[in-house]
Amino acid sequence: MKKLLAVVVISFLLFASCNQNQSSKENTGLKDIADIYVGTAVNYRQVTTRDTMRSIIVNEFNSITPENEMKMYSVLAGPGEYRWARVDTMVAFARKYDKRLFGHCLIWHSGTPGWLTEMEHDSTSLSNFMKEYIHTYVSRYKDDVDGWDVVNEAITDSAGTMRKTFWYNLLGESYIDQAFRAAHEADPDAVLFINDYNNERDTVKMNATIDLINRLKSRGVPVSGIGLQMHTRMDIPDEIIALNLKKAAETGLQVHLSEVDIIFNRHNDQQGGGEQIYPELTKKMLQQQGEKYRKIAEMYREIVPENQQYGITVWGFNDRTSWIPGFFGMKDWPTLYNEKLQRKPAYSGFKEGLKD
Ligand code: XIL
Repeated sequence: MKKLLAVVVISFLLFASCNQNQSSKENTGLKDIADIYVGTAVNYRQVTTRDTMRSIIVNEFNSITPENEMKMYSVLAGPGEYRWARVDTMVAFARKYDKRLFGHCLIWHSGTPGWLTEMEHDSTSLSNFMKEYIHTYVSRYKDDVDGWDVVNEAITDSAGTMRKTFWYNLLGESYIDQAFRAAHEADPDAVLFINDYNNERDTVKMNATIDLINRLKSRGVPVSGIGLQMHTRMDIPDEIIALNLKKAAETGLQVHLSEVDIIFNRHNDQQGGGEQIYPELTKKMLQQQGEKYRKIAEMYREIVPENQQYGITVWGFNDRTSWIPGFFGMKDWPTLYNEKLQRKPAYSGFKEGLKD
């Protein structure tokens, strides 16, 4: 009888361990095959609703960037009226599942709330406001946020001049210095990024970003990272992307591909500015997109020295909730999973590119 019991117990244990191996194999996500951090943008609904999207986030990625929840308009409802609840939810999720949490973003013209721009300011009051905001925010999350986009989109398109934002108009370029210094005071360990779009394709913009970084460094400003959003397009040549990645790497800073997605159609960078060139998605397009994802991951790993690889973050992982169609007003298929939450060739290509 005892023997029989032992056989039963052993068979059960063997069965359970095989099953576990099986399921952990199935759960091997991007994060498990890559040597770098692989992140995704997430929104509040995705992290609070227990469904397929949430499991994908948990299984595939080891870094998360809240898509909108950490922007100034989400966090500050009025002067001194902080709303931390959603950020706290993101922190709890990141802790629970052991994800790196990336803060996006402190100072950004499009993230600035209307009530603030409508108020009367002079340079002193605005500078004090900004410093207090950054001190309060960054120190509150210093144990949980690994790095921040301190300034987002500071350079104009094509011309490479400083963007004339609400912040720039009153404070000049020093708003950038002040923002980085305040963030560094609040959390000396945080990696502090200057982040922008089109710098993988627009060499004038990349050069202007590098000039700015050099000016910041010469003034002793604690900038430690450069972010390439990499909202890119199928027809942007790999050679151009490689060239700009090289320029980014040569700064010696941490390099983050911070918001990767790859579209087929076009837009003019403005809300509603989409141009529908491809109305339907074909098998061939899917394959080509897989190739492009592979190439981007591969180029990043080849060109950026290992100790500067902050990681690759995709701006949403599925075509159902990607920001592209809603924002630009066009159909497109920019991400790794399709609308039905199935892996696309983009997924396998990306995975290939992340592997050694
Ligand atoms: C986008 C979000 O994805 C959208 O949900 C929102 O409506 C607009 O902003 N560059 C950035 C991101 O730095 O914050 C933007 O995110 C996409 C472009």
